[in-house]
Amino acid sequence: MLDLNQLYQRDCIEGLSEIAEGSIDLVFADPPFNIGYKYDVYEDKRAAEDYLAWTRQWGAGVVRALKPDGTFWLAIGDDFAAELKLIFQRELGLTCRSWVLWYYTFGVQCKFKFARSHTHLFHFVKNPEQFTFNIPQIRVPSARTLVYADRRANPEGRLPDDTWILRPQDIPDSFQPNEDIWYVPRVCGTFKERAGWHGCQMPEQLLGRVIKASSNEGEIVMDPFGGSGSTLVTAKKLGRKYIGFELSPEYAARIQARLEETRVGEPLSGSDLPATSAPTTANGKIRINGKRVKVKAAEQQPSLLIPAILPETGT
Ligand SMILES: C[S@@+](CC[C@H](N)C(=O)[O-])C[C@H]1O[C@@H](n2cnc3c(N)ncnc32)[C@H](O)[C@@H]1O
Repeated sequence: MLDLNQLYQRDCIEGLSEIAEGSIDLVFADPPFNIGYKYDVYEDKRAAEDYLAWTRQWGAGVVRALKPDGTFWLAIGDDFAAELKLIFQRELGLTCRSWVLWYYTFGVQCKFKFARSHTHLFHFVKNPEQFTFNIPQIRVPSARTLVYADRRANPEGRLPDDTWILRPQDIPDSFQPNEDIWYVPRVCGTFKERAGWHGCQMPEQLLGRVIKASSNEGEIVMDPFGGSGSTLVTAKKLGRKYIGFELSPEYAARIQARLEETRVGEPLSGSDLPATSAPTTANGKIRINGKRVKVKAAEQQPSLLIPAILPETGT
């Protein structure tokens, strides 16, 4: 049996086999997407059948480790989202409660196809009749309350939609701050939160919502693919027990250091009001006719700025 509140530097398939059956409350997994991403140890370009067979192996380990009323959240890209959903639902017997879309601006630019600007988040449960779903902990203000002052609306807010928007300040006409959509910024290069040594770092605010909704204080959160360690750090801050695996010795050592610096009860990094807490991209420099120009908020023209900025990004 492995100890809790630990990150183990090892292959998660081996590690999962040593976890007591039916002992974990919540698993959050953000596996490599099999798209050729550069990790330091793991090779992210396998034959599709190998990747799916590997998913079945670690997926079975996750399902075995989950409590009978446990929850599994899976983050996955387009390329294998459909197949992985079927594996977990049809072959491994989980029930999909929500298919959340995490939408972000500044997606990676691609040649001859549309830029990637979203990740899929599947919310699975082992038993659809019994699972943790803490509504009060994840309520957001509703448009009924904010805009219409409708007395029939619950003043404590409503449950978020299943689309999460990143950098809403860049799409001022489309997503107003008073809409009841999840606003969670991506962990960008300039963010204080950014660890800086792992390209796939997930935002603590996003993980916080998952952990608050699907587990209670003192319960166990597991992440088989540690990466930068954000899931475990967020779980520790929120007073959950945690356990995780990471193949890379370097990433594992850095996760360990992050965990040692993290205190139980510390606030999550990032703002829970990102629509208003950060300046719009247009408040920085943009490129117009090939020249970098500084633009003030008052000069913003969304229809001009959004296409002008996108080609410069790609991380
Ligand atoms: C997409 S990243 C996870 C990012 C993480 N969610 C975060 O917020 O930083 C996937 C990670 O899985 C690790 N990995 C790949 N195969 C693994 C395995 N068999 N066992 C454990 N970790 C593995 C990779 O080294 C990589 O760091």
